[in-house]
This record gives sequence, structure tokens and C-alpha cells, in this order.
Amino acid sequence: MSESTLPRHVAIIMDGNGRWAKQRLLPRAAGHKAGVEAVRQVIKACVEKKIEILTLFAFSSENWRRPVQEVNYLMDLFVSALEHEAKKLHEQNIKLSFIGDRSRFTEKLRHYMLDAERLTADNTGLIVVIAVNYGGQWDICEAMRQLAVEIEEGRLTSQQLSPQHIEDRLTTAHLPPPDLFIRTSGEQRISNFLLWQLAYSELYFTNVFWPDFGAEELEKALAFYTNRERRFGYTSDQLKV
Ligand code: FPP
Repeated sequence: MSESTLPRHVAIIMDGNGRWAKQRLLPRAAGHKAGVEAVRQVIKACVEKKIEILTLFAFSSENWRRPVQEVNYLMDLFVSALEHEAKKLHEQNIKLSFIGDRSRFTEKLRHYMLDAERLTADNTGLIVVIAVNYGGQWDICEAMRQLAVEIEEGRLTSQQLSPQHIEDRLTTAHLPPPDLFIRTSGEQRISNFLLWQLAYSELYFTNVFWPDFGAEELEKALAFYTNRERRFGYTSDQLKV
């Protein structure tokens, strides 16, 4: 597959860890653990494919509603993944960043996130964005809050407000929007992920559970993307000239 037809930015909702575990009569935690391995495989495949940005939905603002043991397990998993992987990712020139509201996380987890971001800040390879306690509505609302302050302070008028003003204040302002969105496990929803940013993305849904998603499955998603014609509102004929 030629690189020019590959997406620059791939965003994934990693879904189905629980069902993967249930199918094997394992506790849900085993599914999340296997999910971390799938993250490793997909990062590796993205590096090989020279994808520029990979955004992963690791924990939504709605995930706090899960049983407390599961939430705690996920938090421990994030800490241990950062503890063990950040250095390895750094050695591969990968830049890590996190989007979402960190205020609800423990001091320890916030510390690991900041440390990983600082360590990898100047890396020039694959950018891995991890969405934690993230919600698309929250992201837009925070951008609007900033704009409201700017209007209150007279730095902007309501008449000047444009979509670009909103885009520039989202947590992803420094990144191009995702070209390809992937959701595993058969669900066909955006579930409050990157609501604004997915406006023109190609949407790919697969029945495969996240722990079974690896290089081969990513290849299928990339092939799907390559076969789509992205029109951005133009007609087919306009794009051919
Ligand atoms: C969805 O499966 C998965 C999650 C809510 C957690 C995602 C976390 C990981 C893959 C592990 C770690 C990630 C990083 C970046 C270190 P589900 O529990 O909703 O599955 P179900 O729908 O089958 O119940």
C-alpha cells in the first residue's frame, strides 16, 4: 500500500475487552490486560506504516460509572503501562500526549502522564494521543468557555466567532483531524469521542474485539480507507481535475 494513500491520523475506540474476556470465561480485567498488548501491537504497526498520529480512547468520561473495582483496575493498568512503556516509547522516538480532564485522576497517575509527556516532548516520530477521562462534548464546552472569557474581556466579538476559533481551542488544536476512525467490537457509535474532529473522517467498524486487533486488522482498516474517495463536500468530478 503506498504511503500517500495512507491516513495521517488514525483514531480508535478500543472496545470489546470485556466481551473478549467473557468469551474465554476470564474476568474482565484479563480483557483489559490483553487490550494493553493490542495497544503495543497497533503502535508498532503504525510506526512501521509511518502513520503520523494515533489517537486512542482509553477511558471515557462515562467510564467512571463502571464498578469501582474495574475502574481501579484500569487506573492501575494505566499507571503500570506508563511506568513500563514510557521509556521504551521514548527510545522509539514516539511522542506521547494525553487529552481529557485529568483533575479526577490520582496524583500518581497525573505525575506519570506529565512525566511521559515531558520525556517524549521533543520526539519527532509517531504521535500517540491517549484520551483519558475525555468526552467530545466536554472538549467543545471547554473551548466555548475559553471563547466566552475572550468575548467577556473584549478580545473577541460574537460577530467574529468562526468554526476556526473553536477548532483552535480544542485539546487537539495542534493536530490535523483524524482521517480514519476505527471502532472495534461491532458497536457503530461515536460515543462522545472526538465529536468535532471526526466531521470528515472515514468511519470503519469491525466486529473484532480490541484484544484481537493487531497489525493484520489495522491493515484491513487501512485498505478500507485507501478505497474510499474523500470528497469534503466537492463532487467526484471536481476532485478529478
Ligand atoms: C473497552 O472495552 C475498553 C476500555 C474501557 C478500556 C480501554 C483500555 C485498554 C485497552 C487498556 C490500556 C490502554 C492504554 C492506552 C494503556 P469494554 O470494557 O467496554 O469491553 P465490553 O464492551 O466488551 O464490555
